[in-house]
Amino acid sequence: MALVNGSLRAALFDMDGVVTRTAELHAAAWKQTFDEFLRAQAHGAPFRPFDEQTEYRTYVDGKPRQEGVRSFLQEREIAISPDTEALLAGRKDELFERLVKEQGVQTYPSTLDLIQKLRARDVKIGVATSSRHGRAILQSAGIKDLFDACLDGNDLDTLHLPGKPYPDMFLHAAGWLGVTPAHALILEDAVAGVQAGRRGEFGLVVGIDRGGNAAALQAGGADIVVPDLAALGIEDLETAFRARQEEVAWHIEQEGFDRARERQMESLFTIGNGYLGVRGALDAPLPESQSDLFIAGVFDSKRSDLPYSEVEFLTPDRAANTYAELVPLPFPFQLKISIEGQPLDFGGIYGRELRRVLDLRSGVLHSETLFESPGGRRTAVRTQRCASLADPHLLLQEVEVFPENHWGTVQIDAIVDCQDLSTRHPHLERLDHTISGKLELVRYVTRGSAIQICIASRAVLHTSSTMRRLISIFTSRDIENPAEAAMAHLQSFSEKDFDALLEMHASRWKDFWSRADIRVQGRPSIEQALRFGSYHLRLPAGDDARVSIGARTLSGRAYEGHVFWDTEIFMLPFYLHTEPARARSLLLYRHHTLDGARRRARELGYRGACYAWESSVTGDDVTPSKIVLKSTGKEIPIFTGTQQIHVSADIAYAVWRYWETTGDEQFLVGPGAEILFETARFWTSRVTRGERHYHIRGVVGPDEYHHSVDDNAYTNWMARFNLNQAAEAARHLGTNLAEAQEWATLAESLYIPLPDEHGVIEQFEGFFTLADYPLPKAERFKAPVSRLFDWQQINGLKLLKQADVLMLPLLFPTAFSDEIVAANYRYYEPLTDHGSSLSPAVHAAIAARIGLQEDAERYWKQSLWLDLSNAMENSTLGIHPAAMGGTWQALVFGFLGVSFDEEGPHAGPCAAQRLPAGWDRVELSLIYRGRAYPLTVSRTSDKDHR
Ligand code: BGC
Repeated sequence: MALVNGSLRAALFDMDGVVTRTAELHAAAWKQTFDEFLRAQAHGAPFRPFDEQTEYRTYVDGKPRQEGVRSFLQEREIAISPDTEALLAGRKDELFERLVKEQGVQTYPSTLDLIQKLRARDVKIGVATSSRHGRAILQSAGIKDLFDACLDGNDLDTLHLPGKPYPDMFLHAAGWLGVTPAHALILEDAVAGVQAGRRGEFGLVVGIDRGGNAAALQAGGADIVVPDLAALGIEDLETAFRARQEEVAWHIEQEGFDRARERQMESLFTIGNGYLGVRGALDAPLPESQSDLFIAGVFDSKRSDLPYSEVEFLTPDRAANTYAELVPLPFPFQLKISIEGQPLDFGGIYGRELRRVLDLRSGVLHSETLFESPGGRRTAVRTQRCASLADPHLLLQEVEVFPENHWGTVQIDAIVDCQDLSTRHPHLERLDHTISGKLELVRYVTRGSAIQICIASRAVLHTSSTMRRLISIFTSRDIENPAEAAMAHLQSFSEKDFDALLEMHASRWKDFWSRADIRVQGRPSIEQALRFGSYHLRLPAGDDARVSIGARTLSGRAYEGHVFWDTEIFMLPFYLHTEPARARSLLLYRHHTLDGARRRARELGYRGACYAWESSVTGDDVTPSKIVLKSTGKEIPIFTGTQQIHVSADIAYAVWRYWETTGDEQFLVGPGAEILFETARFWTSRVTRGERHYHIRGVVGPDEYHHSVDDNAYTNWMARFNLNQAAEAARHLGTNLAEAQEWATLAESLYIPLPDEHGVIEQFEGFFTLADYPLPKAERFKAPVSRLFDWQQINGLKLLKQADVLMLPLLFPTAFSDEIVAANYRYYEPLTDHGSSLSPAVHAAIAARIGLQEDAERYWKQSLWLDLSNAMENSTLGIHPAAMGGTWQALVFGFLGVSFDEEGPHAGPCAAQRLPAGWDRVELSLIYRGRAYPLTVSRTSDKDHR
């Protein structure tokens, strides 16, 4: 992944044609070598001599000698033995040496001048050349001392490195200089070298065009092309370097195809628009791809032989629930491209190069691929796709196919219907599939829930090499006749609208970023990862109040699309302060599913509403009651479905925060109050009377390693808040006053574990007496999956999966002194294995608050790069939005210590000191009570400049 990173620290030069004027000598030596050979081959007949300009540049420049011979003769379709190849390479070398001796080594003064200026700024200088004479030439030109590292053709051999266009030489040279590629710039005159720089993800690639090569250098990936380095001042270079970093900070790039990581890439490159999400599979997905389309709310019953969340888990008891699982639908962007009958896909053998770029700014996924089919036929394929943010039912796709060095007939099969429904999409039955002219329509229906999904598609040739496709998707959840709607929708556009539709989509993203972007001056790598998080938080948030956001959004199959407390506690604050209307819609989902929560309360024997721990569309609980391990058949009971009842109070908490932040009275009067009241009623029936207090027994707190515990501090605290706020809402609205009194009284007598003499709050009754578990370092952040299998044993250990007591100071920052917060952090942090992605961000926020800067930054980065680094090794099954929301909160409420009053948001008094190392300034915007407030915290001033 291309992750950007900071300042310019090294410059790596190619030698021939950049530092030394030896390129002409090379070209002359090649010409003589090849012409001698071609003449001999022609046996007296006329022959086509080697072209010192074009052929030199295209086939041999920048490459190791023997590879140069091979690539030129291949082009001329001349087959030679390896011995002849070596002979020719040797001949060229001999001629080159002779020319150097005769003519001496000239240098480019402009390059040497730039090197001096860079050195004066402490930028390290390296040279990476395929020439075996590299060192000798620098020596004879008297400039060897200008270079801190020199990697030449001899090193290439000893280190067994592939030559340019592979990036290895540059990467190795950067390694010698102790600099990561993102901090280094490449200066090259050869296309192969420019490509190597781009593939190695270097900070900036400068192409030097000594004549007629500018377009090829640019196409090879040069950021800037100049005729000579005299045209480039050091300031220009630094500006270009920064500009490139800023640009990269708006993109997520993947260079090179890696089959083993493909599913992870599919999750990261998901596109979506609230209504649907499409994983970022290649346009021609691999056979093992999970190239799913997910539509919010399209759930179906679960086949008992298929796994739950982790591939190893089966959940045999859930076949009866019609809305158990979010349905993975067929990939709508599916293409089969072939040239002269040869398929161009990475499942086959012709894939050579792959670059995928997710443009976060405009929500468009680009891919550039290169295929080489028999006879060295090279064909480039470029695609782009998006799910319109302006029109949730619309997908756009564009494909360009360029045969690079041959003529051939290109065939593109753009049928959206999935041929392999029974094995790939067992939830679905095909109702019908029609193609009339350019229009295709396919109708599927889910087997259990009987939801119709209609996909209409129209593909047209835009130019001779470009195909454009519009896809429209409707379901019977949206409209009575979804097929008619999809067709009419598609027919409302003409081919000419494509650019305008793309533009409308991009402008919606622009609008989003105007509210959600966070700028961290001089730290593009941080900006990039924050944008990646905000991008993924935007994807699943739509306008439909009948659905909410699953634990892995619409980006993967883990947790089957189920909605957890993640949404209200971890993600909601992001929406509250960037797009409050979406926060409202998410809470309306909880209102919409209140009946399910009421049913659940009754099933469990209580009153009011008890929200599902795992929820889908009806609000009934869809948590599996047990899992069976595929390999051993061992059964593991799951207690969360019946015991993790804090979710009801979490939702009440979110309702209250929403109301506080927006002042949306209309919401509070209606759905807000109903949620608060019904959940409060649940607690009145769920508590048990003790001698002096009421207690909440038999629960699972946020830390899921302990079940059937009593008086979990988090649950009790949240339940008390729920009761108090229900009472306050009733008084505010002047209704249910008798009940309000009951709720307030119960809140007062509910047992709340208080800090002990060391300031530590006991996680639940008896936690302090559990057995110690010295947590091995290797198990922190990498809790073995098997941990869950030993549930009985773990229940007796002082071992936490995730923040539990520490959730409280995050949600109630003013309720605890810094000393109490610090005492609890010191006690619980070493006991926590962070087996949940929700955990690191909470630890970051708390550590930041109490001034443990190192811990705070470490945890925060863990959370920030959780999916980009696949830290939990399960991003293949979808990204982790709760970690993204948590990261955002840890920055805003932890590091910046933001709080709100009548004047809007304020950064905390220590915000400037708490900024992570290397940050000078952070700028963002927060919406509060209908207004967007800019907020800047900068290290140079200890005040926030709002
Ligand atoms: C965590 C829960 C979380 C769920 C979904 C579990 O591993 O322990 O707190 O709600 O994942 O993200």
